[in-house]
Amino acid sequence: MSSAALIALDQILVILVAALWGCAGGYALASRKVPRLACAAAALLAGALLGTAGRVATVALLAGHGWWFAGEKVLLALPLLLPPAIAAAVVSLPRLPRVARGTATLPPAVAVLPLAACYAAVAGVLITFSVGYPIRGYLAAVLVAAVFAGTAATWRMLTRTGPPGRLWRVAGSVVALLALAWTGASLWNARPPYELRLAGGGGVDVTALRGGDGGGEVRRFTLTARPATVTLRSGRKIEALTFNGGSPGPQIRVRQGETVEVTLANELADRGVTLHWHGYHVPNGEDGVPGVTQDAVRRGGRFVYRFTADQPGSYWYHTHETPNLGLQKGLFGAFIVDAAAPSGFDEAVLLHSFDGTPTTSVGSGGPDDGVVSRTVAPGTAVRLRMVNTDNGPHTVGVAGVPYRIGAVDGMPVEGRELAGERAQLAAGGRYDLTFTMPARPVALSTENPGTGLLLTPGSGAAPPPPSGPLIDITRYGTRGPAVPARFDRDHTWVLDRLLVPRLGLPLPSYTVNGEVWPRIPAPVVAEGEWVRFTVVNRSGDLHPMHPHGHHVLVLSRDGVPAAPLWMDSFDVAPGEVWEVALKADNPGVWLSHCHELKHAAEGMTLHFTYEGVRSPFAVGERMANHPD
Ligand code: C2O
Ligand code: CU
Repeated sequence: MSSAALIALDQILVILVAALWGCAGGYALASRKVPRLACAAAALLAGALLGTAGRVATVALLAGHGWWFAGEKVLLALPLLLPPAIAAAVVSLPRLPRVARGTATLPPAVAVLPLAACYAAVAGVLITFSVGYPIRGYLAAVLVAAVFAGTAATWRMLTRTGPPGRLWRVAGSVVALLALAWTGASLWNARPPYELRLAGGGGVDVTALRGGDGGGEVRRFTLTARPATVTLRSGRKIEALTFNGGSPGPQIRVRQGETVEVTLANELADRGVTLHWHGYHVPNGEDGVPGVTQDAVRRGGRFVYRFTADQPGSYWYHTHETPNLGLQKGLFGAFIVDAAAPSGFDEAVLLHSFDGTPTTSVGSGGPDDGVVSRTVAPGTAVRLRMVNTDNGPHTVGVAGVPYRIGAVDGMPVEGRELAGERAQLAAGGRYDLTFTMPARPVALSTENPGTGLLLTPGSGAAPPPPSGPLIDITRYGTRGPAVPARFDRDHTWVLDRLLVPRLGLPLPSYTVNGEVWPRIPAPVVAEGEWVRFTVVNRSGDLHPMHPHGHHVLVLSRDGVPAAPLWMDSFDVAPGEVWEVALKADNPGVWLSHCHELKHAAEGMTLHFTYEGVRSPFAVGERMANHPD
């Protein structure tokens, strides 16, 4: 079974087992007064034992897929549950039939055991849905204390004996107060930050890490954020947030070596704005992360980004202030750096959903909610620079001609020709699809029927959309950069969906190592190091992970070595384990997050810092900086 299926099975079992132990305990207790209920109690207890055995097997299989998937279950949940469960099997189960026949009564100890198992099983539910991996000490301690206290209290209730009453009450109250204080403190700690500096300490200030002038021609652009109505081709009107009145914003297309100078202005009434150059290795001070590399540009304000476009390829820009809202509503555009003068049909193709309506924008054309059509002469070299600006993946493919993926996330790739096959493009990711225009129409399609791009030589019917299998992008390239022989540091990110303190409340959150932004501990790296990240997805959701300012070299997925490939946005599916390596060659304080921006806003955002770099900016309410 796949790890994703095992995780789901374990989640069902943990609830089922808790319910069965609860019912078994309740019926056993009741059979002390109404003996004929003992039969049902025996049946329920047998069921609970079966479920428990099933859970042990599931956890064992999960541990086989990796310790991250099972650690807290092996170390905490099962050690709590198994002793009372086994005792109930040995002591309680054989007696219940005799109680039912009226030849015996149930001693209190026998009724306590299934209830103790019930308390442990309920703790098991919380361990699965709230503790996760790695184990967070305080919650684990509270749960263990609660299971013991509950068992002791039940024991005392049934036997009227137990620890001396007064001592017991005092000890119980102290533990309960501690647990309460702990819970209160962690909820208080989890309130939205009023002002929080993420990287203090001495050394270099991020404001010193600005882009210079590469010596090439300076290309100047001005982007003004303002609300505007965007009309889709169907006539549908979208109340969008735009740069210069359009969404996508103006395409920024320059030649390698030129200096890009973009003046950002803000005319939005209710929110700040920044420009983040997604995937581009800009100097840290140009990264556009409010509260980390700059303050968000408020209404009437300005910020000038300036850097050398020394990295050719397909990129994009978007606001990083409350990005889930701002980007979804339209504050983004294409950023293309050409190594040479573009030739043939070479266009950015942006996929964006406005209020749930999928659209395609080709080049400087506006968003089209139907099929965009262009005439291209046979023999023309075609490069479609697909950019996924949405929160979820898109499945893209070309029909009517064999094609290749010529670049992934801006980096050139060499791979075989694809015929009708398709590829999943992660949120934030880019694929350059390349082919030579044939003498018949060619269709670029996504999973959304009735959208996409049709290239025609002037006549002929559109081919049916590609329907071939999905390729595995980590196995696509035939040549890639060499994998470093050793790594200077190792970090693990366990992605999960847990109930944890957030915004001052216990809320379902997207977590990394059991924590949420901005409290996820930041890895520290030093310039020149190779850092290996193991990214483990324990949740049931897809997470397109995106580190800023760097590409990562994909090493393996689920233990299978990748055809080495550079990516800046990679989809970690439920149950998957990705190993990626980052070359620390761009000093700064860098955000890193899930590009399903709803997940990022619900916790799945972290940052990593270079040794000796500090940020004078603060996230939080005071400066209205919300990079997540
Ligand atoms: Cu497009 Cu922080 O990302
Ligand atoms: Cu996610």
